[in-house]
Amino acid sequence: MQMIDDLGDALAVLHDPGFVVPPVPAATHGVAWLRATVGRFSDGESHTRRRALSEALLSTVDPKALRAAASSSPHAHPVQHLAAALGLDSSAGTIDAVRVVAAAYQPGTGDETAADVAVRTLVDTFGGTPDESTAARIGLLVQACDATATLIDRARAAGLEAALRDTPPVPATKRLATRPTALGNTRVEAGEVVRVSLHGIPFGAGPRSCPGRTHALALAEGALTATFDPDGSVVADAGGPVVAAAGGSMVTGDGGPVVVGGSVVAAAGGSVVTGVGGSVVADAGGLAVADVGGPVVAGGGRAVGGSAVAGPISGSVAAGSGDAQ
Ligand code: HEM
Repeated sequence: MQMIDDLGDALAVLHDPGFVVPPVPAATHGVAWLRATVGRFSDGESHTRRRALSEALLSTVDPKALRAAASSSPHAHPVQHLAAALGLDSSAGTIDAVRVVAAAYQPGTGDETAADVAVRTLVDTFGGTPDESTAARIGLLVQACDATATLIDRARAAGLEAALRDTPPVPATKRLATRPTALGNTRVEAGEVVRVSLHGIPFGAGPRSCPGRTHALALAEGALTATFDPDGSVVADAGGPVVAAAGGSMVTGDGGPVVVGGSVVAAAGGSVVTGVGGSVVADAGGLAVADVGGPVVAGGGRAVGGSAVAGPISGSVAAGSGDAQ
């Protein structure tokens, strides 16, 4: 399969009505039904109508609200925030089903049998009627699923701008040429399928570009803001390790907006407060406070002592040699 790498050629293909999305067969159920009923895999009037359904759904979601939700629970799957904001069921079972479908959404990429079961679950959960409107709801969550989660992961390591620029979460897309076309030195025959690189255009381009761009960016920005707050204060969600630089403060736990399930490490001078069950390790000079049941380790053999306070019920405290104050 030819790859269209050059940005100018890629833009030309994505804007050229002579290049269409490779068609998918009609189907009555399962992930094949989903593909045959969403805008993503259709063309012409069906695409226009179905894309409008997706846009109408997205227009009910304020990106600022998504950003805030992602910021207060940055380690929840972004699809959970999107489903909740759309007024859809956002239970773990639904998010799992979306992930299973996402893994097989592109034809030939995943476990179709598992995806068929998951599509049935999602149709039932979203009202039971297998029509274009239900497909649009499922399609929106499925489209958002892996791309947004991947974007957030990479942005945590490299920053949002660099992640989008250097490692686009959707690296390429496919188009079918309906007529012979010359692109620079490349000739594409009628009936040929090409891979179009999305390097430099991470949300695509032309009439099929991503309608969820603003919402995806809001989810990513929210998740990143929570982890690396510019003020130096950090709020962590369940499961994630958190590291704050010297002087930063971290507050987690029940009673606050978030709960920490992972471990927290604060450098000298930082203070850490966790809720039930959180474990805390404070470096020299740091102050660690763990609530009910949380173990606390302070100091750890450093010259300058840390101080440790454990919760009233079953917290244990271990202080490094001579460090506890
Ligand atoms: C809230 C999150 C997201 C939603 C709701 C969403 C939704 C959609 C939908 C419905 C389409 C199909 C549009 C059509 O066929 O007319 C689409 C296409 C696309 N999305 Fe997204 N998306 C999300 C996140 C992302 C992210 C994070 C990326 C990558 C950075 C991305 C990249 C793309 C691309 C490249 C296409 C076009 C594919 C093509 O032209 O073949 N999307 N998206």
